[in-house]
Amino acid sequence: METIVDVRNLYVKYSTGTVALEDVSFTLEHPTFTAVIGPNGSGKTTLLRTLLGLVKPTKGSVRVMGIDPSKQSSQIRRLAAYIPQRKSIDYNIPIKVKDVVLMGRLAKKAVPRIAGRRDIDAAEKSLRLLGLEDCWDRPFPELSGGQQQRVLVARALASEARLMLLDEPLSGADVESQYVILDLLKDLRENSNVDILIVTHDLNPCHPYIDNAILLNRRLYGYGEPCNLMRLDILSKVYGPNVRLITHEGHVYAVIGDIHA
Ligand SMILES: Nc1ncnc2c1ncn2[C@@H]1O[C@H](COP(=O)(O)OP(=O)(O)OP(=O)(O)O)[C@@H](O)[C@H]1O
Ligand SMILES: [Mg+2]
Repeated sequence: METIVDVRNLYVKYSTGTVALEDVSFTLEHPTFTAVIGPNGSGKTTLLRTLLGLVKPTKGSVRVMGIDPSKQSSQIRRLAAYIPQRKSIDYNIPIKVKDVVLMGRLAKKAVPRIAGRRDIDAAEKSLRLLGLEDCWDRPFPELSGGQQQRVLVARALASEARLMLLDEPLSGADVESQYVILDLLKDLRENSNVDILIVTHDLNPCHPYIDNAILLNRRLYGYGEPCNLMRLDILSKVYGPNVRLITHEGHVYAVIGDIHA
């Protein structure tokens, strides 16, 4: 078994004084498709950004494939593909879909970053796998939310990374787009040796796809198979008393009343 991510007693305190993560410890072993869930402001994005070396731990240790991201951030970014949360992307730049997807490959190249035949082939193939081959020349900002998410997943795919760190890749995507993305991620985990960590505020669509979930609300409230976390005693500590559970086709799902994200 290979350890992909090892987080030990991680604290992150921003300069504003906000403690975003407190004493968080967990390990991800290869192969894995894991989802981080938690309400708004629970530290999910902070956790991903710490794994990428974009945020430094205040205390504790983080290793990604044996590398300390706070010291070797550029090395992590060569091994891992990152999709930031959609709300953090500037949609006013009139960039084309092909350029967004090619960025996944060019970011890893030395300057001057020029796309070769292999880069274009990989970008086209990724877009095709996400059902968007007709969008190659279209302006990215004109696409629907779900199409944009699929383009971002295509960008991560084209980069041929060993690890995918995806921040809310399903948000703004309709049900069909969500399943295109989840099917593709599951296929990568099963057939291409790629480990996947996604952040989501809604576990339900991911539930049948993932191996494990991490329940976060500044502290770690649970880690394990999703059905084992779907317990009222655990969920009510994070989401309050409005949580309900339903069972469908052998899986337990949570209906959370107090989330509007
Ligand atoms: N750059 C920053 N500087 C100061 N505080 C920050 C910064 N980024 C996040 N925070 C704070 O840290 C806490 C955790 O934020 P974070 O973005 O990690 O949560 P999240 O779980 O991703 O939330 P959401 O579901 O809204 O995306 C919040 O209280 C937030 O306001
Ligand atoms: Mg976030």
